[in-house]
Amino acid sequence: MALDRKLAPNDLRAFWMPFTANRQFKSAPRMLVAAKDMYYTSADGRQVLDVTAGLWCCNAGHCRPKITEAIQQQAAEMDYAPAFQMGHPAAFELANRLVDIAPDGMDHVFFTNSGSESVDTALKIAIAYHRARGEGTRTRLIGRERGYHGVGFGGISVGGIVNNRKFFGSLLNGVDHLPHTHLPENAMTKGQPEHGANLADELERIVALHGAETIAAVIVEPMAGSTGVLLPPKGYLEKLRAITKKHGILLIFDEVITGFGRLGSAFAAQHFGVTPDMMTTAKGLTNGVIPMGAVLATAEIHDAFMSGPPNVIELFHGYTYSGNPIASAAGIATLATYREEGLFERAAELAPYWEQAIHSLKDHPHVIDIRNMGLIGAVELEPIEGQPTKRAFDIFVKAFEAGIMIRTTGDIIAMSPPLIISKAQIDDLIGKLGDVLKAAA
Ligand SMILES: Cc1ncc(COP(=O)(O)O)c(C=O)c1O
Repeated sequence: MALDRKLAPNDLRAFWMPFTANRQFKSAPRMLVAAKDMYYTSADGRQVLDVTAGLWCCNAGHCRPKITEAIQQQAAEMDYAPAFQMGHPAAFELANRLVDIAPDGMDHVFFTNSGSESVDTALKIAIAYHRARGEGTRTRLIGRERGYHGVGFGGISVGGIVNNRKFFGSLLNGVDHLPHTHLPENAMTKGQPEHGANLADELERIVALHGAETIAAVIVEPMAGSTGVLLPPKGYLEKLRAITKKHGILLIFDEVITGFGRLGSAFAAQHFGVTPDMMTTAKGLTNGVIPMGAVLATAEIHDAFMSGPPNVIELFHGYTYSGNPIASAAGIATLATYREEGLFERAAELAPYWEQAIHSLKDHPHVIDIRNMGLIGAVELEPIEGQPTKRAFDIFVKAFEAGIMIRTTGDIIAMSPPLIISKAQIDDLIGKLGDVLKAAA
């Protein structure tokens, strides 16, 4: 009996799926079996427009030749090499290519395997940095309500999504949260909202409460993605930067979603003209093809660790797969694809068309807010009374049946297509999503 189950290719029981209603999914699975450029092929042979770049990660579209070839070649040449007290060229090259596109001053790269690991790495570096400079009392970390920073204990502690936190005990201590920036008066704003910059002043209150000398870092997503696309109010990030600088607190931008062209610049830091002290990345770094993340840090942070005897390990941190050769090769080929095809610029050029298209859904049934920036958009729906998330989830299922893959979080539809999407494909998306919204009313 057990053997039969193992052999059955369509037995769905063993895989405990992440962030999924397992029993609901397994009773009516949505399976993807192939992908090319803007489309997935579903198990029943349909072409499905990928409006989420996989999971906010396939920014160059799917199965891009340069990336596929680089992976194949590296796998055949050298599959794995350790990065502890050993090196291989691809990791160094990728680090340099990343520094090339990063904001000025972000000169060093620490490799991880995911966004969650990037976040925990950055938080650890922040605390260790202050200690290295003789300010070991700076251990407190400040996140933000509704923030998503992955699923490690550090990430969920500074994160602000209640279901990601409340099941998992007491989390890290010494953590505080800024208020989120989602204000009703900003509804239906195109691009950055007008109201809410003053919410950054809450950091002054937190500093006054605990003392600046106890605070290591503030971490925020420059544009909050996973919680349902919340844009920073005009002037908000600038204020956070000014207050953190004033008090010697590090500012970390979690760019796991906003990195690699999503807003029309390499990173959100450049888009908003605000440079943090560290940036966390993953997803689009390898076009989502191979797990990899990276933390970018300023020379000031890096150099603070480089003062002891040169034979002593400076940072007791790292992963077996930090700078994995195949992931590094994928990253180099991904950055080359972005550059050669001008995909960040393409996202910036398409953004006004995308904005018009998304906002054309505003009079559809139950739509209460629409938000956009770069090639990212959200349509927020009024929840069904007593059944939060159901309206959006039903639309997600219907949209998939209609040939578009969107993503929902709560009652918010989030969209972040590969940066290669065409205007005709945007029109197709809006037409189909509009029909599904109307039919669901
Ligand atoms: C801003 C942000 N940080 C961290 C993460 C976690 O990344 P991963 O799922 O690769 O651990 C995500 C994932 O969506 C994210 O959006």
